[in-house]
Amino acid sequence: MNFSYKNILENAYHEIQQKDNDGKIATYIPELAHVAPSKFGAHMTCLDGTSLGIGDHIEKFSIQSIAKVLSLTLAYKLVGETLWERVDVEPSGTKFDSLLLLETYKGVPRNPFINSGAIVICDILISQLDNAKEAFLHFVRDLSDLPNLTYSDKIADSEKRTGFRNVALCNFIKSLGNIKNDPDDVLDFYFDMCSLEMTCQQLSHTFMFLANDGCKVSDGKPIITVNKSKRINALMLTCGFYDESGEFAFRVGLPGKSGVGGGIVALYPDNYTIAVWSPLLNEHGNSCKAMKLLEEVTTHSEMSIF
Ligand code: DON
Repeated sequence: MNFSYKNILENAYHEIQQKDNDGKIATYIPELAHVAPSKFGAHMTCLDGTSLGIGDHIEKFSIQSIAKVLSLTLAYKLVGETLWERVDVEPSGTKFDSLLLLETYKGVPRNPFINSGAIVICDILISQLDNAKEAFLHFVRDLSDLPNLTYSDKIADSEKRTGFRNVALCNFIKSLGNIKNDPDDVLDFYFDMCSLEMTCQQLSHTFMFLANDGCKVSDGKPIITVNKSKRINALMLTCGFYDESGEFAFRVGLPGKSGVGGGIVALYPDNYTIAVWSPLLNEHGNSCKAMKLLEEVTTHSEMSIF
């Protein structure tokens, strides 16, 4: 089986690398615009210990919104089901940075993966932890087995200078009563959280706990319960790609999460995780090549949740 994964991954990679050059690099965070558009890598980690990589899979990139899954995990672990009083679990059908539905739903974001939802999650973490920035970093260091992981000041500072929409979102939610802390502190943490950098290999390794009933694979440590892990995966399937979540489920058939750095991580519970990176994005902010590669892999391996 693993031999076939290797062939499938290699065939899909070479085919897509040759043909596909659609999409645009994210420039609204100026630092992201410096990345070479030709970067393309993928890494798959299987529960049986198999680890397969191709292309630029050991080069670091900005994981951006992919980190929202990790902040949700920590907040959910800390506050349990009361979390859903602050953030809903419905697909938004809108762009990741949309303000539109906040007024309708009285400051309760539709889900934790759009920017508004992730900002509320940051607010919850600040309320729960003495030093949320440090505690979150510590949590991700443990999950990823990367003890030296740090926030990228370059990327965070770049977004802090231009993230006017996020400033608007946070202040708007504050005015509606669903941000409890100082908006400047919440945004500062949010931008740092989005600035984390990992390689495809590291990202695939980090997400293994969600393919393993909430337990780390490297040391067996329980991170979250089976039920919470199920629910986070359900949210990735229904909301992980914003207004393209239906399309991703339709084409790929796995829970996953994208980021404007061009990364996508997807997973098949009890089987594998896969991280793909190519910085050229479609109009929904999702990587064109990464989506295509994942579609090829699940179609040819017949290993999706459907
Ligand atoms: O807040 C932002 O706009 C970025 N830091 C993260 C957005 C993002 O990654 C959307 N993903 N595809």
